Amino acid sequence: MIELIDMKMQMRCILFLLLVVSLVEVNCSRNFTIDYDNNTFLKDGKPFRYISGSIHYNRLSQSHWKTRLLMMKSAGLNTITTYLPWNYHEPRPGVYDFTGNLDVFRFLDLANSLDLPVILRVGPYTCAGWDFGGLAGWLMSADNVTVRTNDPVYMTAVYSWLDYILPKVRPVLYENGGPVISLQIENEYGSFGICDHVYLKNLRDRFRLHLGPKVVLFTTDGSADNLVECGKIEGVYATVDFGLTDFPEKAFAPQRKVEPKGPLVCSEFYVEGVIDYWGRNFSTLNYQEAARGLDIILAYGANVNLYMMAGGTNFAYYNGGGYYRDYLVPVITSYDHDSPITEGGKITPKYLAIRKVIQKYTSGILPPVPPSVPVYAYGGVTLTQGPNIFESLKTISPNPVKSQYPVNMEKVGQYYGFILYRHTTTSSIHNVTLQVPFIRDRAHIFINKELICIIDGGETNCHVTVFKVGQDMDILVENQGRLNAGIQMIFSQKGLIRNVTLDGKMVRDWTIFPLNLDLYNPATLFYKTKDSGHIPGFYFGNFQIPSKLKEPQDTYIDVQPFRKGQLFINGVNIGRYWPWKGPQVTLYVPKSVLKPYPGNNIVVLFELDHSPCDYNGCSIKFVDEPKLNKTVLSTPRMKDVVIADYA
Ligand SMILES: *[C@@H]1O[C@H](CO)[C@@H](O)[C@H](O)[C@H]1NC(C)=O
Ligand SMILES: *[C@@H]1O[C@H](CO)[C@@H](O)[C@H](O)[C@H]1NC(C)=O
Ligand SMILES: *[C@@H]1O[C@H](CO)[C@@H](O)[C@H](O)[C@H]1NC(C)=O
Ligand SMILES: *[C@@H]1O[C@H](CO)[C@@H](O)[C@H](O)[C@H]1NC(C)=O
Ligand SMILES: *[C@@H]1O[C@H](CO)[C@@H](O)[C@H](O)[C@H]1NC(C)=O
Ligand SMILES: *[C@@H]1O[C@H](CO)[C@@H](O)[C@H](O)[C@H]1NC(C)=O
Ligand SMILES: *[C@@H]1O[C@H](CO)[C@@H](O)[C@H](O)[C@H]1NC(C)=O
Repeated sequence: MIELIDMKMQMRCILFLLLVVSLVEVNCSRNFTIDYDNNTFLKDGKPFRYISGSIHYNRLSQSHWKTRLLMMKSAGLNTITTYLPWNYHEPRPGVYDFTGNLDVFRFLDLANSLDLPVILRVGPYTCAGWDFGGLAGWLMSADNVTVRTNDPVYMTAVYSWLDYILPKVRPVLYENGGPVISLQIENEYGSFGICDHVYLKNLRDRFRLHLGPKVVLFTTDGSADNLVECGKIEGVYATVDFGLTDFPEKAFAPQRKVEPKGPLVCSEFYVEGVIDYWGRNFSTLNYQEAARGLDIILAYGANVNLYMMAGGTNFAYYNGGGYYRDYLVPVITSYDHDSPITEGGKITPKYLAIRKVIQKYTSGILPPVPPSVPVYAYGGVTLTQGPNIFESLKTISPNPVKSQYPVNMEKVGQYYGFILYRHTTTSSIHNVTLQVPFIRDRAHIFINKELICIIDGGETNCHVTVFKVGQDMDILVENQGRLNAGIQMIFSQKGLIRNVTLDGKMVRDWTIFPLNLDLYNPATLFYKTKDSGHIPGFYFGNFQIPSKLKEPQDTYIDVQPFRKGQLFINGVNIGRYWPWKGPQVTLYVPKSVLKPYPGNNIVVLFELDHSPCDYNGCSIKFVDEPKLNKTVLSTPRMKDVVIADYA
């Protein structure tokens, strides 16, 4: 098979030569290799040291790809790095999506046209603070699958994805005229907790099968001997990751131990704070320190990738999560942890300081610094209360499923967002304990449509005062994003994953409502209800951009006094908001989702925790500055809301 593919490529090359005899430089002379003896990469036979920056196309609107890439080039970067998240492109088994913002091949073409080689981190596990580290959520519809090992269920899905995507990547390899100079297999595997080398070798063989013997494949691991030794694959170049250090020889020592010769590579050099979670204080990294750290690495002669050079957004439900004790701590919606280029495309002092350092190591003058992306404060928008979750259930969950016992959401074909479990009682009970163990991840519990508990962060017991014959118990569960790292990833089912007991007895006979909030269409549901007490539901409003603006501009939305939920603008799922918890207060809204004047822009909030409309008024506002760093006072373990808050 490899032989065949190579023959084909050679034929193409020969044909090309015949057609374009007058050209001195032809595609087939392009190559990217490792010169082990001289400890360097070679690009077209010449020593090449990459100074790369991470940018995630999947975290930016397509309309902003080019401006960000130009900013990166002007910073002096000669290469860019991106992931290829499997779950983004294969939302359901065998269903692939490469349209619009998902058109990674257009992104790669853009990079190529700007003469920016690309390091492509294929994985298929990629970490990245992204849901399930890029693995497909639907893997969790199987009962017993151990991801990131040679488990047959996992490997069948992985092979099916790789057999689909790698043949599409082959034509965009550098040697074939595209921008991709190297590809990463897995990611920081040494940190996973299981060291399955059969799995790693199988991945390698699949990459080689589709991409041929020449292309540079690499792995990366934390800078420690045991991590690199576990993550290393024979025949695949090992690199390391680390942050600011005064001792590069120490930081690179684990790489040197397994790769005695060849270029030194830091595949993730952290120029930002650490990843941010809801309920934790925002993290930053001082710009002088970031620049000083880069200077040390470049002076040492190493190749480097700055992580993250350009911030982005975990739109929709794509944030990942960390693990704390026995529960998930979700990553915030912004993926800008104090990046040199902000989520909204602002040039920062950190960007300028990094550029200055890179200039020292670059011959020729760098392109001028482009302006920051303009931002506009559209001001206040008044919202109206729409139907609550129960009133809209038929619309957003047309196909409920009956089940004797509760099952995880993946089992009913839903992989993200919210799901509702309903049980109707046939006998009356009073003053009993409801136990709902291992909620994944947060739940609102109702008896007879009245909220009785919010379960979050490990709490499992809820007191039920009265539950009468014929009444419903509803459990609305939010999947807050899957863990993106760590051994606990193998237990990534969402929704209810254990049986529920009431007064010690197992509860049977459930109706499960997978919820598709996208089906809520405010144009057809313009009515207002008054709920007694708080019930999660929809709120909507609309606005026009000023006539003086030729086209919409980016903005930030501050949804306060709303507290926790999901934001949609013109039907686009912008992401989770939770300003009540922090640290992120505003959400970034790219101009591409807004309609130019005189179009009517529709804002919809699915609010879980609070109904401000009756007393505080419910006006939200569009502002021109992000706020990501509200001080978080409570610990994440605490129950978020007490029911008294709703009174
Ligand atoms: C190392 O580079 C030098 C020139 O910089 C070259 O003469 C030599 O051939 C290279 N060594 C190898 C093994 O390619
Ligand atoms: C790589 O490209 C250079 C320059 O085009 C050429 O001289 C060299 O032979 C090529 N090397 C390989 C291994 O193809
Ligand atoms: C789950 O998979 C593991 C590893 O493949 C196996 O040892 C175990 O017996 C399986 N358990 C069930 C319940 O199938
Ligand atoms: C339930 O408990 C409350 C307070 O502890 C008590 O006032 C009430 O009478 C109890 N109801 C029943 C039916 O036992
Ligand atoms: C719930 O209990 C039933 C009966 O014992 C069992 O078959 C089922 O697997 C349990 N469900 C979960 C999610 O544990
Ligand atoms: C939050 O960020 C802003 C803008 O960078 C800064 O002025 C402010 O001091 C920060 N606040 C906190 C609490 O860190
Ligand atoms: C956040 O920072 C503030 C001020 O330094 C501190 O009081 C608070 O405990 C921190 N919050 C958390 C969750 O660590």
